[in-house]
Formats: sequence, structure tokens, C-alpha cells
Amino acid sequence: MNTLVMQDALTVIHSRKSVRTFSGKPVQEEDIQTILSAAMAAPSAVDLMPWRFIVVRDNHKLHLLANGLPFAKMLPQAGTCIIVCAIPEDAAMHSANFAVLDCACASQNILLAAEALGLGAVWTAVYPNIELMKFVRNLLSIPEAVIPLNIIPIGHPLGNERSKDKFDKNRIFLEKWCG
Ligand SMILES: Cc1cc2nc3c(=O)[nH]c(=O)nc-3n(C[C@H](O)[C@H](O)[C@H](O)COP(=O)(O)O)c2cc1C
Repeated sequence: MNTLVMQDALTVIHSRKSVRTFSGKPVQEEDIQTILSAAMAAPSAVDLMPWRFIVVRDNHKLHLLANGLPFAKMLPQAGTCIIVCAIPEDAAMHSANFAVLDCACASQNILLAAEALGLGAVWTAVYPNIELMKFVRNLLSIPEAVIPLNIIPIGHPLGNERSKDKFDKNRIFLEKWCG
């Protein structure tokens, strides 16, 4: 495990950024397990955890995914990706909305864990694009009732991306909406 894992939580939160350029160096299996463990530590409605995580490391499959996905051309260079899958029938009120919300929380944990390990990651959209969901389902044998929420490439960053200071006090209201 990379020593950067010792960074405190707020440092990790503020240094996280979307990483889209990767060196090609393989990610250690141990780091993937750490990231998946962080994903499953996420909150979920009624603690139902309506998620599955497909890890793809096969180079041929990464190329096939990249070919069909406009925003995920970097997959082969990243070398690993996690597809976060939401399961409405497992979610609170069997709701697709709850499933997606819960899986978004897990996705954020993946992004933060990658940052903590000194790795790079980025949320690339699948849901709610019907065509992209169909493509990913077909390629990875995902059942129709399951929502492939996103594809998160994970790899060693080239170092091109920087985190941004997005704090904006104008977006904070005191006591009531101030439009
Ligand atoms: C729901 C969602 C969908 C996103 N889809 C994509 C995408 O398809 N491709 C991509 O490169 N980045 C995608 N992103 C990443 C955003 O572009 C990125 O978070 C934003 O530009 C802010 O940059 P930062 O993550 O470095 O702070 C997505 C992020 C979210 C939360």
C-alpha cells in the first residue's frame, strides 16, 4: 500500500481531482482491494448497499470499452477500471433513485480512496445515457435490471491534473434561501 494513504481525510478531499492521463504503470491488486473496501464503506439508504463493483483489468476488454465510450478513451492507459453497478430491486423502496444515490456515495469513496493511495481516477458517465448503459450491459453481461452507473478508470497519474479550490461563500445561505 502506498504511504500516501496516511494523509488525513480533509487533505485527501481537497486534493482529489479528476485524473484523465495515466502513465500505464499497473495498479497493485492490493490497492484495488483497498479501494473496493472504501467503496463498500459508503452510506446507503436503510444500509441496503444496492451495489456491485465490476473490476476490469483485461487489456482487450479495456480497449473494447474505450472504443464504445466517448468519455473513457483513457481506459487502456489507466490499466484498471471499476464499473459501479446499482441494483434497484435491492435498494430502499426498490427505488432506482435510491440505488443510484447510494452508488454515487460509493463512487465518491472510490475517487477519494484512489487519491489517498496516490492513484488517479475519474467518474466517466454511463447512466443516465440509455445507449451507453446498453453498450456496457452487453459487453459485461450485466442484467437489464441493473444500472451501470459509471466507469471509473484507475491508474498512476502522469501528474497533469491539479485540484481546484471551489469554495464559494456565495453558495452558502444562512437560515433561509437567499436567491
Ligand atoms: C455524475 C458525473 C459525471 C461525470 N462524467 C464525466 C465524464 O463522462 N467524463 C469525464 O471526463 N469526467 C466526468 N466527470 C468528472 C467531472 O467532469 C469533474 O468532476 C469536474 O469537471 C470537476 O473536476 P474535478 O473532479 O477535477 O474537481 C463526471 C463527474 C460526475 C460527478
